[in-house]
Amino acid sequence: MSGPNDNYDPKQVSALSEEAVDGFVADALAAIEAATDTGALKQARGAHMGDKSPLALANREIGALPPAARKEVGRRIGEARGRVAQAAAARQEELAAAELEASLVAERVDMTLPVELAPEGALHPVTAMIEKMTDVFVGLGYEVAEGPELETEWHNFDALNLPEDHPARGLQDTLWVEPMTDHKLLRTQTSPVQIRALLERGVPLYVISPGKVFRSDEYDATHLPVFHQLEGLVVDKGISMADLRGTLDHLAKALFGDVETRMRPHFFPFTEPSAEVDLQCFVCHGASVGNPDRPCRTCRSEGWIEWLGCGVVNPRVLQACGVDSDVYSGFAFGLGIERTIMNRNGAPDIRDFVEGDIRFSRSLLGGAR
Ligand code: DAH
Repeated sequence: MSGPNDNYDPKQVSALSEEAVDGFVADALAAIEAATDTGALKQARGAHMGDKSPLALANREIGALPPAARKEVGRRIGEARGRVAQAAAARQEELAAAELEASLVAERVDMTLPVELAPEGALHPVTAMIEKMTDVFVGLGYEVAEGPELETEWHNFDALNLPEDHPARGLQDTLWVEPMTDHKLLRTQTSPVQIRALLERGVPLYVISPGKVFRSDEYDATHLPVFHQLEGLVVDKGISMADLRGTLDHLAKALFGDVETRMRPHFFPFTEPSAEVDLQCFVCHGASVGNPDRPCRTCRSEGWIEWLGCGVVNPRVLQACGVDSDVYSGFAFGLGIERTIMNRNGAPDIRDFVEGDIRFSRSLLGGAR
């Protein structure tokens, strides 16, 4: 840096000459103009207006000038810095506005785009079917009775006229609960609720009981180890098979519309006489029977699909519950909920009920509701 000097010689401080300062300004303006974004402009400001910029360094030289020269040079540098600062401010405004505009365009929200709604659940077909059946029976004046899933051997078998050595016990693959000496099991049917309802509510009795049942079955296209049944029980004076038939026809119509039913003699220990009810095949309507050209997979060309078990309550069941079987009689029935839905909707694989795919539930809701 040059010291105070009375004989001011501009050449000694050439950085302060008019040409030099104009050159600094021209460089600064060019750099400012060339900056295409605010980041680049910031760099240009640093280089041309910062502490180490030629104009800042020149400014520091002023103090070394003879007093006579300071004023003029001071004004020159001051003006130069002012022009550069102004240009930078103007460019800053321009670039910031352009950047704001660009970001507004890039981040624009299209209010007309379809909104992705949160996924909605669906009622499980078993729940929907139980509700539908319950509506039918509540409409007839029945009550809904419940029983435990962990049941006693006595309620599940003995009281239903299935003593220990009865061969029908072997048909229901029972899941026993240890210790075996407690005689507890996971109920294999909803029929034990018949016993509980008779004991707790007495007669006359009109109840249905939907719920889970358990069997040590394989998990395959036609079996689940846990499935659902709905039990029905009526005990009153003068109840007969005709009442049973009329009630089940009413249920069939409410669930399936105009469909033919038939009763076949069968055996259940808790009913006498007993029957199975079949529905006419929804697919071939019986046309496949004796017609090898038109085989039907749904009913295996039998024309009928097995639906439920039923009968007149065995007097021994009434007696086990302290009901006078000379005065009272009744009917009972039990059906599989999943099986009923499969009959109704032609669902081919019972495992779909436990896979949890909401599309399955949605596809059956219309039919079950
Ligand atoms: N509990 C029987 C089963 O699981 C179904 C059944 C048949 C229930 C006849 C009844 C009935 O109430 O009367 O196979």
